[in-house]
Amino acid sequence: MARLVSLLEYYCFNIICVTLLLLTSVEASVLEEKSGASTSAFFIFGDSSVDPGNNNYINTIPENQANYKPYGHNGFFQRPTGRFSDGRVIVDFIAEYAKLPLIPPFLEPSADYTNGANFASGGAGVLPETNQGMVIDLPTQLKNFEVVQKSLIEKLGEAEAEKVISEAVYLISIGSNDYMGGYLGNPKMQETYNYETYIGMVIGNLTQTIQVLYQKGGRKFGFLSLSPLGCLPALRALNPKASEEGGCFEAASELALAHNNALKSVLTSLEQIFKGFKFCYSNFYNWLDDRIKHPSKYGFKEGINACCGYGPYGGIFTCGGTKEVKEYELCENAEDYVWWDSFHPTEKIHEQFAKTLWNGEPEPEPFSVGPYNLQSLFFDKVKLTIGDIVDVIPQPNHLLQ
Ligand SMILES: *[C@@H]1O[C@H](CO)[C@@H](O)[C@H](O)[C@H]1NC(C)=O
Repeated sequence: MARLVSLLEYYCFNIICVTLLLLTSVEASVLEEKSGASTSAFFIFGDSSVDPGNNNYINTIPENQANYKPYGHNGFFQRPTGRFSDGRVIVDFIAEYAKLPLIPPFLEPSADYTNGANFASGGAGVLPETNQGMVIDLPTQLKNFEVVQKSLIEKLGEAEAEKVISEAVYLISIGSNDYMGGYLGNPKMQETYNYETYIGMVIGNLTQTIQVLYQKGGRKFGFLSLSPLGCLPALRALNPKASEEGGCFEAASELALAHNNALKSVLTSLEQIFKGFKFCYSNFYNWLDDRIKHPSKYGFKEGINACCGYGPYGGIFTCGGTKEVKEYELCENAEDYVWWDSFHPTEKIHEQFAKTLWNGEPEPEPFSVGPYNLQSLFFDKVKLTIGDIVDVIPQPNHLLQ
């Protein structure tokens, strides 16, 4: 971490700041206040929390897919789409609030990318090693974004495509799989790297991804931080010390917390260094933890057990009966549950969280959303300057492989 931040500072002081100084005078005269129209594009990167069905089109195991019953159980979509939910996921709600159509999976044949694309893949991590070969890893998601960018340029011309790219909102929701399967479930990784080093690698690679998107013209970012991973039904079921720790697998939650803290401080530094970089960050950890502990405060009846699954807490990941163990149980009313299956929350949680990110406020902790909420990013209550749109950062090559 320290090394990464100092690298960024190094580049700032040696290259970028000079460029920024040159731009400052131009900028002041062309401050433009944008009108009420919504941003026209929304790009999504990440894992099963936001995958709308990309994994339907790759060669993988049933654990990484959700295109079979009872996924999609609530009937919002006519059939299971590949979303890891009983219905919609968070980005479907956000697209609706932004007055955009549903954002299609990048891999959907003949998908229309006019309003953006969703590159997310269930099981994916920040590190390419996480579930390698069975998911669309983050570097590949970025390459797929380049494909869409090129198609926008062909369709709209360079100038218009550049405008779409710079006004678009980029949502990134990834990291859980790096800590669950990628680290806690991988003794070899734990032998090679201690907690701190591993988190540093995840955050370092995530930072590079943000940098690449920034360099390609992205300016407005949303981040979903990690949930209390140890309280997922699957991890409760695996917890070796359940009786002492109230059921949650504390080591997993600690990794998530440390990751979130590191991510937040990196974003704050990027905001200082990258001209025009704007972001929405929220404390999903506390937000979900409160619903797990006090479900009835938020209209739920059950915060611990999964609606769909098997065994203790519904934590054995058998939802759908397509995996190794065929038995699974399904609850009657998913709306009463925080957890849909052993790893994923219900549509109702997705909807409540979408609302929080959309119009949440920087205060009060512990549910803060900021410095911008998604509404202000999409509807551009944010002033854009020439400096925001022009690509001001010469990228040091070795940060970008
Ligand atoms: C990115 O992850 C790889 C492992 O996949 C690691 O070797 C590398 O150091 C990481 N990069 C940064 C900048 O942390």
